[in-house]
Amino acid sequence: MMENTNNQQPIDKDYYKRQIGLIEITQGAYKARCLHLVTKLNVASLLADEKPHSVDELAKQLGGVDATTLHKIMRGLSTIGVFKHHDQEEGVSSRIFSQSDLSRMLNDKFTRDAILFKGGDGVYNGLNDIGETLKTGKASVALHSAGKGYSNFWEYIWDNPTELGLFERGMTGLTSPLLPYFLDMSDFSKFKVVVDLGGSQGVMIQEILKQNKHLEKGINFDVQETIDNNKKLDRSKVDPRFSEVVGSFFESVPVADCYTMSKIIHDWDAKEAKGILETIGKSIKPNGKVFIYDLILEKDRDYYSYRTWKDVDLWHSVNGRQRCEKEYTDLAASAGFKIDAFVKDYMVIMSKIVN
Ligand SMILES: C[S@@+](CC[C@H](N)C(=O)[O-])C[C@H]1O[C@@H](n2cnc3c(N)ncnc32)[C@H](O)[C@@H]1O
Repeated sequence: MMENTNNQQPIDKDYYKRQIGLIEITQGAYKARCLHLVTKLNVASLLADEKPHSVDELAKQLGGVDATTLHKIMRGLSTIGVFKHHDQEEGVSSRIFSQSDLSRMLNDKFTRDAILFKGGDGVYNGLNDIGETLKTGKASVALHSAGKGYSNFWEYIWDNPTELGLFERGMTGLTSPLLPYFLDMSDFSKFKVVVDLGGSQGVMIQEILKQNKHLEKGINFDVQETIDNNKKLDRSKVDPRFSEVVGSFFESVPVADCYTMSKIIHDWDAKEAKGILETIGKSIKPNGKVFIYDLILEKDRDYYSYRTWKDVDLWHSVNGRQRCEKEYTDLAASAGFKIDAFVKDYMVIMSKIVN
């Protein structure tokens, strides 16, 4: 690689401002790691009384924490909306903080679990290998950083119970807030049996059952490791129509008239996504439907930055991708399905082509 030592831009008096714009992006790693740290330490819970607190008092309550470092981290986070930093006192940076709208959310289980997973060691250390993904085009998140040379992310989490737990709780934390939006787009009135493929802890199918009293059965379908972990969850109040089935959607799935998949197809490349649809094609009842809940890229430019970075994340983690309408249309056709509708920016309805 050629070394670029030529300055192509004049060093005018605003040069440093343009440079800071870029250098601030490199600080993203500090922001991510510090957000994860304060979430893990439950700092926001100490501000739940909505009163101002000094970092010295907070550090004491946390134990094993240096107050000066905590001050710097909380002050940094307050610049991006997490925690409120009180005004300086007598020309010295205040050591007083209170809750902000964003830090208040860290006390919410869904948000907390989502951050513990997305900012956790597995994902964070795996970022080191993005250069490897760039070189090979093969998802490298778990190859080296995870230490044992796993061939993919799934092998890594299925072999590491702590990471698997973080992943499952993180997915519930990320998906639960979307359920009102997903269910608002979905009409289950013509179905009797719905299977949620790759349903993880089962929150989606339970919500579908809750809102659709006419359904006879709702099945949460996932791999052995996840269904085994679900046995630790409190199911005492679960709907009697709910059940769980172990399996792989590359092999066979229970017979049903509706298959839901939230954040499943986006985990797989064209060949594997086709394979999942073909498996469904063998079991789907006549007039059955496939409801896919994945972001449809380009359909809506809201949160566009978030969506495109999520695409990088999916690619580096599992060779998954965010797809555009055309890619879903091609995918459906490749597996003998057709698109019935794209609903808003987050749902694709497919049905099997009957010859
Ligand atoms: C990204 S998570 C999505 C979880 C959930 N649907 C949601 O929206 O939060 C992907 C899920 O697919 C499951 N999965 C991966 N490979 C699978 C396979 N071959 N058969 C069935 N489930 C699988 C994982 O265990 C995980 O629960």
